[in-house]
Amino acid sequence: MSIKSSMKHLKTIKQKLSSRTYWKLQIKTAWKEATEAFLQVGNLLIQSKSELDHGEFLEMIENDLPFSSRTSQMLMVIANDKRLSNTNHGSYLPPSWRTLYELTKLDDVSFKKSIRDGTIHPDMLRKEATRLRKRYEYELDEKERVPFVKKRNTKFKIYNEDCITGCRKRIDSNSIDLIINDPPFGIGEDDIGTRYSRCEDNVIDGYVEVPVSKYEDFSYEFMVEVERTLRKGGSAYIFSGYQNLRHILNSAVKVGLEERNHIIWKYSFGLNTTKRFISSHYHLLYFVKPPVSKITFNEFVNNGDPSQYLDREDVWTIDREYKSPTMIKNQNELPTKLVEKIIQYSSNTGDKVMDMFLGGFTTARVALQLGREPLGFEINERAYEHFKPRFHKKR
Ligand SMILES: C[S@@+](CC[C@H](N)C(=O)[O-])C[C@H]1O[C@@H](n2cnc3c(N)ncnc32)[C@H](O)[C@@H]1O
Repeated sequence: MSIKSSMKHLKTIKQKLSSRTYWKLQIKTAWKEATEAFLQVGNLLIQSKSELDHGEFLEMIENDLPFSSRTSQMLMVIANDKRLSNTNHGSYLPPSWRTLYELTKLDDVSFKKSIRDGTIHPDMLRKEATRLRKRYEYELDEKERVPFVKKRNTKFKIYNEDCITGCRKRIDSNSIDLIINDPPFGIGEDDIGTRYSRCEDNVIDGYVEVPVSKYEDFSYEFMVEVERTLRKGGSAYIFSGYQNLRHILNSAVKVGLEERNHIIWKYSFGLNTTKRFISSHYHLLYFVKPPVSKITFNEFVNNGDPSQYLDREDVWTIDREYKSPTMIKNQNELPTKLVEKIIQYSSNTGDKVMDMFLGGFTTARVALQLGREPLGFEINERAYEHFKPRFHKKR
């Protein structure tokens, strides 16, 4: 560089240094880049997750990175949130990954509103974002009970029929995204009422059990329908007690469903037993119809809360729900939380969710609340007549 041109260069730099606009632009760009850097790290994590073996990825995030695996999870959630990568929002966002992570938990409507009215701003602190989220969650919870669903679905197909003949007649092959079956366990009709220590006065009559001697055929027949009606890659969750578990497992193999997990649902206050340990779990078998490449498995349920590692373990501790003694109930009812968890992990809004043994209609109710389309059967006319008019009402 000649002396003349380097003088010119120095002059330009000096001019730049004295320009407020120059500095303003530099600082604003760097600030924006700080937010973008978090998105970029999150994207790299997501990419590496899809390219590395599952075990290798876990080892990397646990051992090789300068931040914890919890932080990795949060950064992936941030990068996955289209609202944060939307360039129109860039200048409003705080360059703090903890605050950004809190913002991912906002539903769309609250997020947009908060950008518009300036509640989300570049100086926003994490505690402010947490307060904002809690406020909106509370409001949504009041309105909908289940947060993050903007519009309730209103379509459903529910029949008072035997589910096996009903399915054959009414449900197309390869049409259902998710099946949740909580069949009678084949443990003897008269036995149930006496082993639960609860008031049976308000339990709906007519619960249909299946005799132990017929359980093998019964489970095979309904599993044939599960396999036929599921779409490719669709999921089926089947509850079972220990007594007839083998029949369900054998049937699944025979019909060609692939077992993904053998989940244990642990609840407190189990069935009273004599001269053996108290039974306080059920089996929840999670199958898919191959090919597995088409599975829906939403890992970011709970909005990617870091506790999702625990949430993804295959022992689920979920208490049964308290039902007031005056409330009419089915003989067995699954807890809402348990059904919510299955539906959120294994289906998306608008998906068809079938329950062949509706009982107290827990699956149908939760599916509707989460914007899915419920289908199902209940053979007991009394249960059907009682629960059908109620399950789609807002609670
Ligand atoms: C364990 S309960 C289901 C409870 C349900 N998951 C809930 O949360 O309320 C099983 C239900 O299946 C019904 N059922 C038994 N055999 C059936 C069949 N072949 N077709 C349809 N429903 C049947 C029973 O009457 C009973 O209500």
